[in-house]
Amino acid sequence: MIYPIVKYGDPVLEKVATPVTVFDDELEKLVEDMFESMYAAHGVGLAAPQIGISKHLAVIDVTFKEDPSAKLVLANPQIIHTEGRQRGNEGCLSIPEFREEVTRAKKVTVRAQDVTGRWFEKTGEDLLARAFLHETDHLNGKLYISHISALKRDLIKRKIRKMVKAGEW
Ligand code: NI
Repeated sequence: MIYPIVKYGDPVLEKVATPVTVFDDELEKLVEDMFESMYAAHGVGLAAPQIGISKHLAVIDVTFKEDPSAKLVLANPQIIHTEGRQRGNEGCLSIPEFREEVTRAKKVTVRAQDVTGRWFEKTGEDLLARAFLHETDHLNGKLYISHISALKRDLIKRKIRKMVKAGEW
């Protein structure tokens, strides 16, 4: 099932999500639906709050279907190590049509549970490191625009308000 993506302005995106405690068939189905919804929206990462489900759960595939082994499920993820710096453009499916340069760590280690509840650690660099940070932020109610200047953030918010008024958001 493809879920519609929740857009900026919905309070679910700025709320701290609740931990995943049950690892059952229902969770497996939700994860499948999240991958499907992410691909349908042409994204490489999706957090559960972005489909209106306030759970500590995210999916990532920085290869966008090219490498099935690159598909990652992060339940209850925690960033345990960061290293270096990278600058690059970042966007979010919940803030469509906007992109901004965001400085992030270059190398990031995440600790999370997979869809069966097994804990694992994974280190990613470049785009994967960015995805780990971006998606983990989502679960803590934080959007990438909190990492850009107040000036740029206000400009985006103003444009979105206009789009909301025009019925285009
Ligand atoms: Ni996002």
